[in-house]
Amino acid sequence: MTVTPTPATLLSAMQDIVGAGNCLTADADTESYVTDYRRLYKGKAPVVVTPTTTEQVSRVMAWCHANDVPVVPQGGNTSLMGGAVPDDSGTAVVISLKKMHRVLAIDTVNDTMTVEAGVTLSAARAAADEARRLFPLRIGSEGSCQIGGNLSTNAGGTAVLRYGNMRDLVLGIEVVLPDGRVFSSLKGLRKDNTGYDLKHLFIGAEGTLGIITGAVLKLMPQPRSTAVAFVAVQSPAAAVELLGRARALSGGAITAFELISSPALELVLEYLGNIPSPLESRHDWMVLIELTSGIDEETLNGTLMEILEAGLEGGLVVDAAVASSLADVQQFWRIREEISDAQTRTGGSIKCDISVPVSRIAQFTENASAKVLALEPATRMVIYGHMGDGNVHFNPLRPRERDAKSFLAQWYKPVSDLVDGLAHAENGSISAEHGVGVAKRDDLLQYKSSVELELMWQVKRALDPKNLLNPGRLLPDIDAAGKSGA
Ligand code: MLT
Ligand code: ZN
Repeated sequence: MTVTPTPATLLSAMQDIVGAGNCLTADADTESYVTDYRRLYKGKAPVVVTPTTTEQVSRVMAWCHANDVPVVPQGGNTSLMGGAVPDDSGTAVVISLKKMHRVLAIDTVNDTMTVEAGVTLSAARAAADEARRLFPLRIGSEGSCQIGGNLSTNAGGTAVLRYGNMRDLVLGIEVVLPDGRVFSSLKGLRKDNTGYDLKHLFIGAEGTLGIITGAVLKLMPQPRSTAVAFVAVQSPAAAVELLGRARALSGGAITAFELISSPALELVLEYLGNIPSPLESRHDWMVLIELTSGIDEETLNGTLMEILEAGLEGGLVVDAAVASSLADVQQFWRIREEISDAQTRTGGSIKCDISVPVSRIAQFTENASAKVLALEPATRMVIYGHMGDGNVHFNPLRPRERDAKSFLAQWYKPVSDLVDGLAHAENGSISAEHGVGVAKRDDLLQYKSSVELELMWQVKRALDPKNLLNPGRLLPDIDAAGKSGA
């Protein structure tokens, strides 16, 4: 039987492995590692360790495994689902990968980049850029989120339509297993059919099966030209139709197709202060369209104009602002990317991150909006997201005159259950890109089959039989819920 180590024994073991300078224990120092991005979840940790090598991560894991100490891996701590912070039992060691932030190699012949897990997304993009390549993952938190976290949550964002999710952008990974063994597959191979592709087990596993310490990422050619427009559309259905026309006319040049509702635009303009709306009048629905390509700017702009004209003629487009400078492009994107923080700042947002087949988006959006407004008519329908890949951030926001706490206490659960149920009924997902963490964990009991849940647990038990890695996250307790499919 393992004896639970005393805090002093634990700290001394960690200091031996990573050095005293890489162990944080004072509340003031650990605060930001135990509090989640939206400040909804706050836990405790006896120590936060910041290893600098894979070998140190491996030794920390081996020690914790031998001594039954739970471990919570953490990247940039930008999870919206409470998946990267410990619970309040005060038993779990937090391992932050932030000091493993080296770009190890860039191979411009193979078009790959090898990085440590703690490299931020913006640093990875900048390194690719310097090598005249593109690393295409694009999300609002790129300055803080890290590649390890992007992989662990299979991050998506605004360019998935063109380039896919993080799962599609990686060729190899290095992972430290719960018992300290290292699974290293840092190969830049685009073809390797030698059995199970094990890396995919760890991608999207939210740190419950192993700690990703490094990765080989795919690099893409840099586009030569970009064309962006902020477009008012008749309705979500018109937006879907416009997407179809844009696809047909642009021959695959669409990089982003983002839906934005009027309350989302109003909120973000209010939050950003002195930024004007790209469009003169108020419209219920808008889309931000971006085309990128290897052809010249003039031709690409011509294609964008063709799309907008087809939209106007077909009665889909009501108004449009075309970016005429880099500053315009940045401004349009800033408006889109700050919607998330504008909600956090305002408080009282019911965040639902659903996906449905693109063909069902309009129906879902209209149906869900009507049902939510029937419950509380003054709710601000902050709806936006990556429409081109079926992902809607459907985030009803408290009426102006209501305080956040009472709104959330009354509506958080009924509204998220309603929205998730409608998405599920459309063959959709209750978490398109934000993951599960602790926020959506128990909802999986309702939306995953017994077979899926049992398989997930079988994989978990095979890799982490002591349930020490990110415990209580992602996997609901199927035995307690009596949902075992065994
Ligand atoms: C976004 O698309 O802005 C992100 O997924 C974050 C969010 O929705 O809060
Ligand atoms: Zn998103």
